[in-house]
Amino acid sequence: SLNSFKIYEVATKSRSAGDGLDFSKLANNDSYYELYYSNDAATHVLVHPDAQPEFIELLNGNTLSYKIVNHDAGLSLHREFETNRKLRNAHPYRGRLGTERYYSHGEINQYIEDLAKQHPTRVLVKTVGRSYEGRWLKTIRITNGDGRANKNVILMDGGFHAREWISPAAVVYAIGELVDNYEAYAQLLLDYDWVILPVVNADGYEYTQVSPDTRMWRKTRQPSSAACIGIDPNRNFDFHWNETGASSDPCSETYAGPKSFSEPEAIVVRDLIRGLADRGKMYLTVHSYGNYILYPWGYIDELPDTWEDLDEVGRAGGDAIKAATGTIYKVGCSTQLLYPAAGASDDYAFNAGFPISFTMELPAGGDNYFNPPPEDIDRLVKETWVGIVAMAQKVVEKYPLN
Ligand SMILES: *[C@@H]1O[C@H](CO)[C@@H](O)[C@H](O)[C@H]1NC(C)=O
Ligand SMILES: [Zn+2]
Repeated sequence: SLNSFKIYEVATKSRSAGDGLDFSKLANNDSYYELYYSNDAATHVLVHPDAQPEFIELLNGNTLSYKIVNHDAGLSLHREFETNRKLRNAHPYRGRLGTERYYSHGEINQYIEDLAKQHPTRVLVKTVGRSYEGRWLKTIRITNGDGRANKNVILMDGGFHAREWISPAAVVYAIGELVDNYEAYAQLLLDYDWVILPVVNADGYEYTQVSPDTRMWRKTRQPSSAACIGIDPNRNFDFHWNETGASSDPCSETYAGPKSFSEPEAIVVRDLIRGLADRGKMYLTVHSYGNYILYPWGYIDELPDTWEDLDEVGRAGGDAIKAATGTIYKVGCSTQLLYPAAGASDDYAFNAGFPISFTMELPAGGDNYFNPPPEDIDRLVKETWVGIVAMAQKVVEKYPLN
């Protein structure tokens, strides 16, 4: 439980200029500190009750100014849990998923199954695998119903990291738009099919909904050692696996796993990527948080030869969001904007042949400076969709059907 954990907002100068304090080293001690990167001049750090004096000493020693922005993260999570329970009761699933609340994995599967029944010519749901705990992982393929095969493909997924609830919410909204308003997106469906896996890490996602104490779970749920559970599915891909930005400590939040593709959920995404690589033009994996549109490479501090294409499409997304709501996204290479993360799905998809591959980090929110509260869902999923549409338009224009 996070009872009496505090969240510190530490003013950071510039990441590249160096802060005098290596936050990433701190974060290796996961039970005491966890880093919540933010987009602006501040870093948010979650600190264990026992570690407060030491942490303050460290900040003072490095002349870093800070303020405590949450005095009891556990209490905030308890409140949030109650709110979610009430919202679930007030808005039960009735054939559509609105933006009033967050959903369960079961509800999302039910929703896409229902869409397939209602729109059999345009929607196809396929079971693509099982999670470690046996949950069915299903994709939804959305077409314009003209029956033409071998179109180009946009592959999208959400819910890699369990606690990033705004991700499946944004992906589910995108599904609803593409299915219900398909006429408005005729250009995006003319020569392109969309294949979407809304919740990759279904076990972890469900686990975060069990209680306030499990709310901040990130990894999968497969035991990784006698002491710890879970592997970071987004460090588990076999492309420069277990190199920089991944941990070999089973208790770490970025544990790469005992071997690459140890996680059935990562295997499911791998197989989707491989199966679609010859037709896939954009891979988009939706995470939170930080307001980033990130492109390869994530394993090395270098740009791919075609970085200008990635940049052009990414900027189309960032610019569209800024024009629509004023929200600023940073667009750029993962390693340069955020941190190295080898073994992630975006590098894997890019290397497999998707010319455009992005990790989109949606905004944070709420008392815990992590996941936005339910009242922000509607605004954020719509804003995200504006960005996705702009990127898809650019992709359709740049990569016509051969
Ligand atoms: C992962 O990398 C670390 C650091 O280089 C190394 O100590 C560890 O043995 C590697 N893990 C595996 C399973 O290869
Ligand atoms: Zn994530």
